[in-house]
Amino acid sequence: MVKKTLVAATAITLSTFALTSCGSSDAASDSASDDGKITMGFAQVGAESGWRTANTKSIQDTAKDEGIDLKFTDAQGKQENQIAAIRSYIQQKVDVIAFSPVVETGFDAVLQEAKAADIPVILTDRAVDADPSLYKTFLGSDFVVEGERAGDWLVENAKDSDVNGDGKINVVQLEGTTGAAPAIDRAEGFAEKIKADDSIEVTASQTGDFTRDGGKQVMESFLQSDDSIDVVFAHNDDMGLGAIEAIEAAGLEPGKDIKIITIDAVKDGMQALADGKINFIVECNPLLGPQLMDLAQKVLDGEEVPERVLTDESTFTQDEAKAALPDRQY
Ligand code: AHR
Repeated sequence: MVKKTLVAATAITLSTFALTSCGSSDAASDSASDDGKITMGFAQVGAESGWRTANTKSIQDTAKDEGIDLKFTDAQGKQENQIAAIRSYIQQKVDVIAFSPVVETGFDAVLQEAKAADIPVILTDRAVDADPSLYKTFLGSDFVVEGERAGDWLVENAKDSDVNGDGKINVVQLEGTTGAAPAIDRAEGFAEKIKADDSIEVTASQTGDFTRDGGKQVMESFLQSDDSIDVVFAHNDDMGLGAIEAIEAAGLEPGKDIKIITIDAVKDGMQALADGKINFIVECNPLLGPQLMDLAQKVLDGEEVPERVLTDESTFTQDEAKAALPDRQY
């Protein structure tokens, strides 16, 4: 563990401190340890999706490569588990805490406790609705932009997406976990963009909790109550893949009888896109490990870090998925 003492500070670290600390309390003393090893407590959401599996692997692999002592917990999708994990990291006096919040609200108290214990917090992947002074930085995607990209594609492909040929494009939405930043923001970005075409309407919207099973079950119930669905907008690939199973079980052809738009671009999603079962995927990058460890090191060195660090992302059509699949890492 990195000890908060100046005793063993090296000359190099001291000069870094002088140049960059600007009175910061998480300054050079943090990285001036006997063993130089950072201890990070990471409270993960769970293992709900292919995206999450890739995200966890990226964090664990990078920590290993960089000699960071990683304490990792899986909250199994429950906020109370995540708060308990963060409290335990505070008790263990880790050097830095990172987490991807299950939902946006309800973390104020535990963030205050981390601040009072002088342990810096880095948000990864998802934001919280809390005082920004309670965390050092937020690394992750812009989920509103992801929703906008999905909406833009639908507006641009509106004519082809009217599969029922009645001049109306009925969209059913498979939402992510209720209260989670990506569910809120993707719905918002999508709704904003489809306003450009009056023929597009979200006729039903329900959470599938970012899981394949959830997506399948919700899609089954949508199909039972509505035979005029033109498009599925799923907030992640896993729910889209579950919807494909439900559509096929109903005797329909996914990608043709019902168009499908998803977000993530994990390998299974990309394969379904290349196979013509999904029509468009907006990428959400899970490989946050290297940037996270770099930010943690900077924070502990007392360097200034930006409040918001965005990840680079693109989109995939069916042809683009075919080209990208051979090199896809996750
Ligand atoms: O927060 C990122 C989202 O969480 C991913 O899009 C989804 O697959 C995951 O469960």
